[in-house]
Amino acid sequence: MKEKGVMDDMLWLVTGVNRGIGRALTLRILNDGDEVIGVSRREYESVREISKKHRERFSLIVADLSFEEDIERIAYEVKAPVDFLMNNAGVMNRESYPNFSQKEFLETIKVNTFAPLKLTAVLDRAGKLKKGAKVVNTSSVLGSISGASSTSSYSYSVSKAALNMVTRLLANQLKPKEIVVISVHPGWVRTDMGGSAAPILPEESASGIVNLARRISLRDSGKFFDYTGRQMKW
Ligand SMILES: NC(=O)c1ccc[n+]([C@@H]2O[C@H](COP(=O)([O-])OP(=O)(O)OC[C@H]3O[C@@H](n4cnc5c(N)ncnc54)[C@H](OP(=O)(O)O)[C@@H]3O)[C@@H](O)[C@H]2O)c1
Repeated sequence: MKEKGVMDDMLWLVTGVNRGIGRALTLRILNDGDEVIGVSRREYESVREISKKHRERFSLIVADLSFEEDIERIAYEVKAPVDFLMNNAGVMNRESYPNFSQKEFLETIKVNTFAPLKLTAVLDRAGKLKKGAKVVNTSSVLGSISGASSTSSYSYSVSKAALNMVTRLLANQLKPKEIVVISVHPGWVRTDMGGSAAPILPEESASGIVNLARRISLRDSGKFFDYTGRQMKW
């Protein structure tokens, strides 16, 4: 919980707010008293519920992150520079070797790798990332090259390994503006993607990620952490 009266209210942009970790992040941030601009592919009932309950501090942008035009539009719809950009939305295509489809592979890259890069860039270009803002790219242990000791979804692991490079390049790019960019592995989390056997609840993961986002500084930029704040190997 942030200390009331110590920090001004912060503005967070979170993608994929309708379910899973994105929804838990949103509820945690709103409960802490900050403001959230949520990006959701559709105006789902779960998102309407959040809007109704937190009318003053939650606003919604409907956008499909696999479309570049939608990502560009987000930068126009965001009215004030954000303190935190949580690139959370992601997809996992469970293709099995050796049967790959180019279409599905590229769909995964679009959402998991290109969208976080493009969204960060368009917000930066539009002056919608505050000086000193924090950009958190939700990666995965499955994108760690040194940690890949078995097989996994090729498209997913490749997309997250590439996202880790995006994190590193953006960290270099945005350093003059004191903007901090990190990758985060949220743990194995009980969501539609993580499945029912996953040991970590979305609330626990989200809480760890929010705490981490609040405390990182420039010296952490370009690094890869897990949701507890432990540094991960690329
Ligand atoms: N769960 C885990 O164990 C785990 C582990 C490591 C990393 N992660 C990462 O953590 C992040 C959140 O995962 P999760 O477990 O919460 O997954 P989830 O329950 O499957 O939720 C995925 C979210 O991403 C959104 N999304 C997907 N494609 C989109 C698009 N084209 N445009 C806009 N939104 C889109 C979904 O919206 P729709 O409902 O519209 O599809 C949904 O809100 C992902 O980046 C994932 O790769 C998860």
